[in-house]
Amino acid sequence: MSDLKEAIIALQAQSKVLEPDELTRNEYVTKVHAYANQFLNTLSNAPTYSSAKPLEDVFLVNENKKSLKEILEIYASEVAKKGINAASGGHLGYIPGGGIYTASLADYIADITNEYAGMYYASPGAVAMENELLNWLKSIFGFPESAIGNLTSGGSIANLIALTAARDRHEVKLERIAKSVIYVSNQVHHCINKALRIIGLADVIVRHVDLDAASRIKPDDLEEKIKSDMSNGLYPFLVIASAGTTDTGAIDPLEQIAKIAKAYNLWYHIDAAYGGFFILTKEKSAQLHGMALADSLVVDPHKGLFLPYGIGAVLVKDKQAVYHSNHYRANYMQDTLNDDAPVNPADVSPELTKHFRGFRMWLPLQLHGIDPFIACLREKLVLTTYFREELLKLGFKLGPEPDLTVSYFWFPTGNEKENAFNEQLMKEIHNDGEVFLSSTRISGKFVIRIAVLSFRTKLETIDRAVKVIDKALSKVKAEF
Ligand SMILES: Cc1ncc(COP(=O)(O)O)c(C=O)c1O
Repeated sequence: MSDLKEAIIALQAQSKVLEPDELTRNEYVTKVHAYANQFLNTLSNAPTYSSAKPLEDVFLVNENKKSLKEILEIYASEVAKKGINAASGGHLGYIPGGGIYTASLADYIADITNEYAGMYYASPGAVAMENELLNWLKSIFGFPESAIGNLTSGGSIANLIALTAARDRHEVKLERIAKSVIYVSNQVHHCINKALRIIGLADVIVRHVDLDAASRIKPDDLEEKIKSDMSNGLYPFLVIASAGTTDTGAIDPLEQIAKIAKAYNLWYHIDAAYGGFFILTKEKSAQLHGMALADSLVVDPHKGLFLPYGIGAVLVKDKQAVYHSNHYRANYMQDTLNDDAPVNPADVSPELTKHFRGFRMWLPLQLHGIDPFIACLREKLVLTTYFREELLKLGFKLGPEPDLTVSYFWFPTGNEKENAFNEQLMKEIHNDGEVFLSSTRISGKFVIRIAVLSFRTKLETIDRAVKVIDKALSKVKAEF
């Protein structure tokens, strides 16, 4: 045998473990499956939050190997049990979702077959499925079929794609940047500010529009600001509304803002990452109807459709505006070119190679139908109202009636120690760890907020949260 062949065979013997045989695969899956079941079976009684940090060096990567059993033990104790248990229904902080089980089955298969979901040529099935999901989104949000879209890793990248399109449609570049104006609420998610910096718009003028008592944009103020900027020779080009702000769940007056955007030729973007899917509920569909009037829209299936983290979506009506930055052709991709092919995800996003994330959305929708998702969203609306009623009984003050399922509250001490009191209360709730809530500041005031969106948040969970809050309150009262 030649030296070359000998070397190849020796290397093959070493690399063979990367392709386990069926028996080994079954062994692996059985262990993983056992861990997954144990995790899910004990989830409803497991803590939602632990401030403990992972052990030092536990994740060190070196030449040493570990068995799958050891690996799963490390995962269970050092990953799954530390920080926020985002799978738990007790996750009532930030914007939770839960992560439905059947999505993980789709991820497993998508990883096994390793679909190349960036280009139609490489995986026409994967791309056609993702495009069909985008068509479904267009239909529920009232976007035209001609709109273009992408399944992104989350809301941040989805917003980035939309804002880039707005920039390119209005040719905001060179000396025009410093004279261009964007209108937002100060409640807009911070990923918008990040996106502006990333896409070279750090120097645009950002106008914060006045808000009403429920933290919604005041359309009159928006219009006045636009007029004043125009008369001062500035270039208003973009207004951003939220359908569900992160802090308070407020829905901006979408239709009124649309009229103003149209009258002054502004790109109208709506960040509905959190609230968008509530359009499926009969309670909220009218209030969210105005989403159809946006030039671009962001929704997050890993929030409102309860999918595991890693899937957002953007829809944009102006295809050319999106293509300006994202559509690219390179010599080494000449085989993939075909003018008749459907839209390639890679032409709508900065990503070329991407995870086939569409399957984790498509499989559960096909398997369960849409109704259980809608029922779950409606359940969250009622649970939020129930939670507020229970807190009133404990003597808390509540923020305004929420538009969706985020609500804030604070305990009134009636003195200058109110903020400190509520900060301590938040700490006690975190120390307890049974449920997880987060805090924010509204007009400088420290408040605790609850976000009811995980599909696993049930009546028992809310009752548990109220008990935890009550217990923490008694403790803090004794200290102050
Ligand atoms: C309203 C809103 N927009 C955007 C984002 C950012 O989305 P992601 O964390 O998926 O990038 C969030 C996240 O909570 C959000 O609530």
